[in-house]
Amino acid sequence: MEKYWYPVDFSGFKIKEINLFGNEILVLNNGKYFAFQNRCPHRNAKLSLGKIMSDRIKCSYHGWEFDMNGKCVYVPSSDSEGHVNLKKYNIKEKNGIVWISLDIPDHDVPEFPEFNDMTFRKIKCGPYVFNSNPFRVMENILDVSHFAFVHEGYLGDSKYPQIPKYEVEVNNNEIIAKDIKVWQPNPDGTGETKLVSYTYKVLDPLILYFRKNSDEKIFSMYFAIFPESKQKSIVYAWIAMNYAFEYSEEKIRSFEDEVMSQDKMVVESQPYEYYLDVSKESHVEADKATILYRYWINKKIGKRSDIGLI
Ligand code: FES
Ligand SMILES: [Fe+2]
Repeated sequence: MEKYWYPVDFSGFKIKEINLFGNEILVLNNGKYFAFQNRCPHRNAKLSLGKIMSDRIKCSYHGWEFDMNGKCVYVPSSDSEGHVNLKKYNIKEKNGIVWISLDIPDHDVPEFPEFNDMTFRKIKCGPYVFNSNPFRVMENILDVSHFAFVHEGYLGDSKYPQIPKYEVEVNNNEIIAKDIKVWQPNPDGTGETKLVSYTYKVLDPLILYFRKNSDEKIFSMYFAIFPESKQKSIVYAWIAMNYAFEYSEEKIRSFEDEVMSQDKMVVESQPYEYYLDVSKESHVEADKATILYRYWINKKIGKRSDIGLI
């Protein structure tokens, strides 16, 4: 899991402390983003308490100074250079999000195709905190057969709960579930119930994109989940849409906030474990995408109890 990219936050923050797979990390911006271990090698005080300068971090305890390569360049008590380095992590800004990877990533942060397309408006959503396993949260985003129940009147209609058979392609890099048809009460703001078509792409273990078409109106979303622990997930999301420019950003965001709070109710009731052994839960045809996601996660990551993959 260490070689994948995870969202730290939306771009724009100055300083943030995170804990990723047991690593305490300081992410800071002094012109661009950097990420270092958040413990000073001298006596383990938190570096986030220190002073961030244009080209250095100064620890608040005994004033040791580190440059942006993590090298200790000044020890005040001996008026000399130090001989230790801070561990430095890969950091990247893309799609309006700051990303971190603990190990050398084997690919770039996955694309959000509409992000730089000016015919689409973009709306930032979240962060949404779920007291849930991050893979349960991811699976919920990939699951459409709950729309008619959890999001009745929003994304689904309980009179039309059927999900026709759909195709799923799986390769090493992604899972693509194509043309999933769902009846929606008001998919495009016209007030009419329509059959819409979703295409989902799992782009990384905890990064997902979907695109929904209804006539020529396109609504897409990009989700990235920060796996704080097996009991806590933080979701960062973007909406892109090429219609409904007359609606305010707040109105569209509050719809998504409501949808996510409906999800939170049920997802937080699920176990903190995510079962890679598919026999531990029951599955039907409509679950094809989520079953294949479990197989894919099993192959890519495998069991890992710290994050509840069992
Ligand atoms: S603990 Fe940081 S300088 Fe001593
Ligand atoms: Fe949902």
